[in-house]
This record gives sequence, structure tokens and C-alpha cells, in this order.
Amino acid sequence: MCGIIGIVSDKPVSINIINSLKKLEYRGYDSAGLATLSNNLIDEKKCSGRVEELEKILIKNPSNGNIGIGHVRWATHGIPNIINAHPHSSEKVSVVHNGIIENSDELKKDLEEKGFKFKSQTDTEVITVLVTQFLENSKPLESVFKTLKKLKGSFALGIIFKNFPDIIIGARRGSPLAVGYSNDENYLGSDSYALKSMTNKISYLDDGELCMLSKNKVDFYDLNQKKINKKIYTVSDDENTTDKGDYKNFMSKEIFEQSNTIKKCLSEYTDSLKKDINIYNFPIEPKKINKIILIGCGTAYHSCLVAKYWFEELTSIDTEIDIASEFRYRNLKFKTNNLYIFVSQSGETADTAAALDICKKNNVKTCSIVNVVESTIARNSDWVLPIHAGPEIGVASTKAFLGQLIVLYILSLKLSIEREDIDKKNYDTYVENLTKLPEAIKKTFKLESEVQLIAKEFLDAKGSMFLGRGNSFPIALEGALKLKELSYLHAEGYPAGEMKHGPLALIEEGLPVIVIAPKDKYYEKTLSNMQEVIARGGKIFFITDNYNRLLSTNIRFRLRVPRVDSNLSPILLTIPLQLLAYHVASLKNCDIDKPRNLAKSVTVE
Ligand code: M6R
Repeated sequence: MCGIIGIVSDKPVSINIINSLKKLEYRGYDSAGLATLSNNLIDEKKCSGRVEELEKILIKNPSNGNIGIGHVRWATHGIPNIINAHPHSSEKVSVVHNGIIENSDELKKDLEEKGFKFKSQTDTEVITVLVTQFLENSKPLESVFKTLKKLKGSFALGIIFKNFPDIIIGARRGSPLAVGYSNDENYLGSDSYALKSMTNKISYLDDGELCMLSKNKVDFYDLNQKKINKKIYTVSDDENTTDKGDYKNFMSKEIFEQSNTIKKCLSEYTDSLKKDINIYNFPIEPKKINKIILIGCGTAYHSCLVAKYWFEELTSIDTEIDIASEFRYRNLKFKTNNLYIFVSQSGETADTAAALDICKKNNVKTCSIVNVVESTIARNSDWVLPIHAGPEIGVASTKAFLGQLIVLYILSLKLSIEREDIDKKNYDTYVENLTKLPEAIKKTFKLESEVQLIAKEFLDAKGSMFLGRGNSFPIALEGALKLKELSYLHAEGYPAGEMKHGPLALIEEGLPVIVIAPKDKYYEKTLSNMQEVIARGGKIFFITDNYNRLLSTNIRFRLRVPRVDSNLSPILLTIPLQLLAYHVASLKNCDIDKPRNLAKSVTVE
């Protein structure tokens, strides 16, 4: 989950490294560093904390050098401090690494027995020591190949060599790595986003591949050290989406962008004239799909959970959901008429990518629902349905969640009509209902001032609970995830009907409990569960789309979202919960876009 950049040029590179690292900070932000080669020396500079600290160090003491590597870290081995920050350099090489070397302890022990000394607690330093050792008798390329043979685990690497000041070597196993091309300058990066301000011409390394960059040339090699050719992609320019404009942070921008991103997504997938959904080229003919298996992590997993309700409601297809980190290790029976759908904003999440690889190895059909269309998951799946949300920078996923929901809902509708599970009249109504969503989302934003009042009531709370039934249950999970992720307040999401089986013991006088209760078939049941909480002193915040008077008086606060087709209510009910998490975190002065201990793209297991 760290970010890597490498630049080889005919002019000094440190400023561009810093600029790229700022873009990569979404991958990790507990320490940063860079190394350039100048005057025949490795010039390494590191700091704990953010890239702006590194920038200050460079302003005081500039790094020259036309070749360099940089890194932002999300700590795995060793606490976030200067010593553990990357690059890790010896007198001959400097290395940046994303991923985990699983046999680092073993390798370190061997190397220490041979007399090598280690400075850090990281798994990465074994790579530095191994390459340095192999350089005694081998050229850089061969030394790196020899090193890779010894490594177990996942990695993306960038390496520079003191005695070979014209090359950067990159290697990939499990963690993403891209190469960018320009005139008299070439780049290595964890993703194309980091390289976008410098080039839109990108190649992606596949697992086991290695690249050697000089300023005028890039060579690629496969596992067997054979030279290979790679496709060059032209990556798209996303309009004004990487700037927070007048917003205080990316998260608030991304929340309030949602009416537009949903409008854009709908315009990509629906034909308003024909009242139809433009989804074609199913990898399995819809009537032949036996089962759908939806797989994701975190917020993306919650969108799979909502979709399960939709697929079951609207289609005759049996639907399962799985958390990618569980799916990848289970003893599953793969069937060729099952469709495996992977949901991921970044398209780089290691567990999701690994689960997809397992499906590929078992020759089953895969679909990915992603925001980043150039991502590993998108490139590796048979069928890609982009969510068209534009870059999501805030670590907490907001607009990507709603985008995932829309695409999943649209897919369930299209499958339903293709399989003749619903009739054309109902289908037309469902498609028509979708067009009302962007306006309804805008109206929901008007709840913000009320949400701000509610947020104050969470400040002194010891914890909180989020309850819902049916397709509001995953929204309860998502609301709780947003609150804990952003404000560090303990929050539990639960199916309201499960409370009496244990969690009710947590309810005590004044505990904030968010009850999500749209006027659907579960409404009355949810109200009964709410009464059980009220009877034990829970402080209720009630979110609904029911505008009728509610008889219960023991409700601290009511929020009403616009009433839409009940299939779509999860989309609107999410927004006040995003705003709640945002405002509680703001009141607590938390870092909204970069919550502690987290990273945007989780590229380690
Ligand atoms: O990029 P992905 O959608 O695959 O990421 C999955 C999760 O890591 C992500 O949704 C995470 O849970 C978010 N930080 C939640 O806001």
C-alpha cells in the first residue's frame, strides 16, 4: 500500500518526485523519502510524516541528480519513523518497495550470519542487502533477477545503482507497477495517476515482470529474463477531478459531487429515449447464468451486500457474496456457468485481485466493477463495468460506493429483463425511476445542517450503533464503517433483528443508535426493534423516507430523505451517514482525507 515513483531524465528530478509523491499519498502517508544519484553518490533524504515535511527538507538542502526514486509508506514491518522510511540504501544501491516480503526474517538471519548489518526493522532492507551482495559479481539486471528468486511474498520495486547512474530497475510480483514514457525522460510509478502530470503514455507490468528504464529507452523482461514487448496505453484525462476546488477537503467535495457522478454514470448506462440499459456483451448469456458471486473488501463489500438483495429481488439468479480475503483461501467449487463479479474502486486491492486470479486459474467468467479502468483488476477480468465516478482521493470511499451501487442495480435490472424475470412494463418503470435519482440526491444534501446538530451529540459518546433491516442493513454497516474510519469512534453496524441475540447488552443510557428505516416491507419490524433499544436507554437518531407522523416520542432526532423507488432508498440513506461521519470527524479535528493508520489503496494482503 505504499507509493513508488522513479524518474530518469536529462534534468534534475527531485521536484517531480515530490509532486508525484503528493499524488501517491493516498497509498500511505506515515513517512516519505527519496534518493537521487548525484556526484557519484546516493543522496538519500527521508522523514516521518507527510511529503510536505520531505519537501521542507529538500528546500533547505536540495537534491540534484537526473535520476531518482521516491516513496510514501504505509507501515507493515517496523514503526513509522525515519529509519524505517524508504528508500533503503547501501553504499551501492537504493531501493523502494511496496508489498510484503514474507520470508524476510529467514533471509535476514542468513545474511546476518554472513556478517551483513541491518539498520531498519523493515522487510525491504533484505532486498537492498541481497542486491548489493549480488552486485559483487553481477551486472544490475542479473543481480535483481538473482534477488527476486530469493523473495517470497508480494512486491513492486524501484532500484537505482550508484555505479550505473543511467538506469532504474523496476519489478513486480503481486503489487501494481506502471511505466510512463516521455521525451528524454521515463518513469516508474505505483499507478498511472502519479504519472499523469508528466505523461499519458503508460505500460503496466504483469506479475513476474521486470523493467529497466534509461532516459531514452525502456526494456521489459519476463520471469525467464527474456525481453518482451508491452502494450502502451493512452490514459484518459479526467476533467477537473483531482483538485478540491473550494471545498475544505476531498471528502466533502466527493460527497457533494455525488449527484453529478451518478448522473454521469446513468448517462453512460441508460438510453433515455429507448428507456433501456446499455449493457451488452455479457461473458455468459444471461439466461445461462446459474449463480452470481459478488466479491469485494470494505465499502466495496458493502455494495456487494446491497446488490445481493437486488439480484434476489429482481432476478431468478442465486446470489452469494464474499469478502475477498476470505474467498481467496476457501476451498471453492468453481462452475463455468457462474459469474464472478469483483467490485473495487481502485481496482488494485490485493485481496480482490488475488481472488480474481484464482477465478481466472479456474477458467470461470469474471466481471469487474471498478472506478479505475486502467487498473489491474479491470485489465485482468473478462468484462469491465466502470462506475465513471472520476478519481476518488479521500481515503473514505463515498462517491465510489454510490457508483458501485448504481452499476450493480443497473446490472440486476438488465439481467432481469434479459432473463424475462420481469416484464417490460415493470422494467420501464424501474429504468424511469433511476432518472429521478440525481435530483433526489441533491435534495438529500439539504439535510446537512440537521446532520451537523446530530454530529455534536456523538462527541462525548463512548460508542455508537447503526441498525437496519433488508437492504438498509448493509447501509448500517457502511454508516458504521465511515464513522469509525473517520472519527475513530467505535461504531457497530447490525441487522436490527439481531440485536436481541446479544448486542442489546451494549445498549446503555444515552448510547447513540442510528436506526435506518425506509418505508419498505421491514418498516414495522424495524420500529419494534427500535422500541427494544429505547426501552434500554438508547438515544435514537431515526433516518427514514416516511413522511407520515411517527407515534413514538422517544426519538432524539429524525432525518427524512426524499422518497424514491424502495430499491433505490439505500442510495439516498447513505448520504446523511457520510455527512455524519464527516462532521463528527471535523468536530474532533481528525484528518478527514487521510485517517490514521489507513491508506486509500490496499495493495498488501
Ligand atoms: O479500492 P477498493 O474499493 O477495492 O477498496 C476496498 C476497501 O479498502 C475500501 O472500500 C475501504 O474500506 C474504504 N477506505 C472505506 O471507506
